[in-house]
Amino acid sequence: MITVEGLEKNFGGFYAVDGASLSIAEGSITGLIGPNGAGKTTLFNVIAGVLKPSNGRVTMQGEDITGLPPHELFHKGLLRTFQIAHEFESMSCRENLMMVPGAQSGETLWNTWFGRKRIANEERALRAKADEVLEFLTVEHLADHKAGQISGGQKKLLELGRTMMVDAKIVFLDEVGAGVNRTLLNTIGDAILRLNKERNYTFVVIEHDMDFIGRICDPVICMAEGKVLAEGTLDEIKANEQVIEAYLGTGLKNKTKENA
Ligand SMILES: Nc1ncnc2c1ncn2[C@@H]1O[C@H](COP(=O)(O)OP(=O)(O)OP(=O)(O)O)[C@@H](O)[C@H]1O
Ligand SMILES: [Mg+2]
Repeated sequence: MITVEGLEKNFGGFYAVDGASLSIAEGSITGLIGPNGAGKTTLFNVIAGVLKPSNGRVTMQGEDITGLPPHELFHKGLLRTFQIAHEFESMSCRENLMMVPGAQSGETLWNTWFGRKRIANEERALRAKADEVLEFLTVEHLADHKAGQISGGQKKLLELGRTMMVDAKIVFLDEVGAGVNRTLLNTIGDAILRLNKERNYTFVVIEHDMDFIGRICDPVICMAEGKVLAEGTLDEIKANEQVIEAYLGTGLKNKTKENA
């Protein structure tokens, strides 16, 4: 689905991503782990077009997508989740989903003048789709709640829900489990597994919670100091000497308890 070759991103001479190469198999739920500052978020941001790479190449299904802006990648089905923007917090959860760009066909002048009926129909369809997404995520009771008033974990679910309003192929999730309680984290894990099985989504998941990674991810890629150290099952990764060394001082084992 995605190949990354020799990717570099430097910030004023410091290489946050330092020649990373990896590939993400179609249909996989790939975990991306590594100590704090390893370059995971930066790698995501470069792949998703938020940051321009200093060097290297990214392809999606064989097509060069290096440096394309986020909205173009979005139309190709490559999505990364973002926190609910401040100005969206006063809108309901349902409205937040209905606002996802690309979920509705554009409001052109032509539509406004000649397509009122069609727009009304479309809005009904959009509303139904949003409700279906909320139901899928088991939070249909939050449909009319303001996005600013739901819990941090529920917000994470809503962020994931936004990717379901369009036909995503690959979704990048950066620490979906951060600050989320165990029950909600399981719900998020279930949603990811179901989207993967039933809708053929490919996922790349950054997470410090190793129980979560172990439950949903195969393979797991470990980064440190801007480079890819190892790839394999979580058990293989945990037994890898270089990985253990990279985590020394922070402790891979302790990370498991972080969200407990
Ligand atoms: N905009 C920036 N300007 C300068 N340095 C940056 C910038 N963004 C990230 N860095 C640095 O790049 C390195 C990698 O950061 P990054 O956020 O990608 O790490 P990470 O693996 O996501 O870490 P964490 O697990 O803590 O989220 C860090 O040393 C960070 O300080
Ligand atoms: Mg990060």
